[in-house]
Amino acid sequence: MVSGGGTNLQAIIDAKNQGRIPHAELSLVIASRPDAYALTRAEQAGIPGLVLRKTRAVSIEAYGEQLLQVLRDNRIEVIVLAGFLTILPENVIRAYDHRILNIHPSLIPSFCGKGFYGLKVHEAALARGVKVTGATVHFVNEIADGGDIIAQKPVLVEPGDTPETLQKRVMEQAEWLLLPKALEDVACGLDK
Ligand code: GRF
Repeated sequence: MVSGGGTNLQAIIDAKNQGRIPHAELSLVIASRPDAYALTRAEQAGIPGLVLRKTRAVSIEAYGEQLLQVLRDNRIEVIVLAGFLTILPENVIRAYDHRILNIHPSLIPSFCGKGFYGLKVHEAALARGVKVTGATVHFVNEIADGGDIIAQKPVLVEPGDTPETLQKRVMEQAEWLLLPKALEDVACGLDK
């Protein structure tokens, strides 16, 4: 599930193509907005994509039901939130307990939870002056960034870093490696 540029989705697609995710099939990409470039990446990779928007007209529960219907119709077993910026409804979280992965661009429990997304995470890390940050893949529960941790990878903060340079390094050195590997590990565990 995606909302933006989809570089983490691309990392998963590349890993799949290179044989690094043998235990999972990439069946569907769901975007929260029609202009998400991630949809183009899905199309180029031959993965079906669709847009499911949470509008003000529908309740969060009804949006969850719509999502669950789509997930069931496509026989989805594991969900990866790869930069999905809509809060996931609780009925979806309950139905996919320990089957929803999220990638967060810091070492949880630092710089996470409500309001910590995108560049804000890296701004906060630089403001605090940490020398090491990184990325975390965790299961999703009802607490923002509060589910069980699956994997983490540290990344050094360099002198002169800006939120943008730090974001890029965290993606290149941690996120794009960690997420495909965590997906394979989770899928492999379900297979046993
Ligand atoms: C990444 O920084 C990820 O950690 C966060 O959202 C961003 C998504 O970027 N959850 P992209 O769409 O995968 O390029």
